[in-house]
Amino acid sequence: MSTSSSSAAERDFKRAYLKILCIIFFALLICLSIFFVNHNENNKYIIETLELNGSAEEGDALFKINCVGCHGITARGLVGPDLHSITKRLNDKEIIKQVTGGLTPPMPSFEIDPVNMSNLLKYLHSLE
Ligand code: HEC
Repeated sequence: MSTSSSSAAERDFKRAYLKILCIIFFALLICLSIFFVNHNENNKYIIETLELNGSAEEGDALFKINCVGCHGITARGLVGPDLHSITKRLNDKEIIKQVTGGLTPPMPSFEIDPVNMSNLLKYLHSLE
C-alpha cells in the first residue's frame, strides 16, 4: 500500500516536472524566434541604408535638428563626444547601431528611415 502510494506521488512529480520542462522549452523557442525576426529586420534596415547614397546637406539639416543639443552645433562635442573623424573610428554599421540602438544612454535611440540615416552618414563622413 505504502509503496503504491509513493509511486503515484512519484508519477505526479514526474508529470509536473515534464510539464515545466515543456513550458521552458516553448518559452525559449518563442524568445529565439523573436530574436531572429528582430535580427533580420535590423539587417534589412542596415543593408537598405548602406545601398543608398545620401546627401550631406540633408544630413546636416537633420543633425542640426536632432543632434546639436548634445554634440554641438559644429559637432565638436558638448554632452556627447566630438564627432569629427568618427567615420575613421567606427564603420557605417556601427554608426547606424549607435544612432538607432539607444545602447549608450543618455543618447536616445532615433527612429529614422534608411534615406535619412544615409543622409546622416554622408554628413558624418563630410566631417574631417
Ligand atoms: C541626449 C544627448 C544626445 C543626443 C540628442 C545625441 N547624442 Fe550621440 N551621443 C551622446 C553621448 C552621451 C554619447 C557617448 C555615448 C557613450 O559612448 O557612452 C554619444 C555618442 C555618439 C556617437 C558615437 C561616438 C563615439 O565616439 O563612439 C555617435 C556616432 C553619435 N553619438 C551620433 C549622434 C547622432 C548622429 C545624433 C543625432 C541623430 C546624436 N548622436 C544625438 C549624446 C547624444
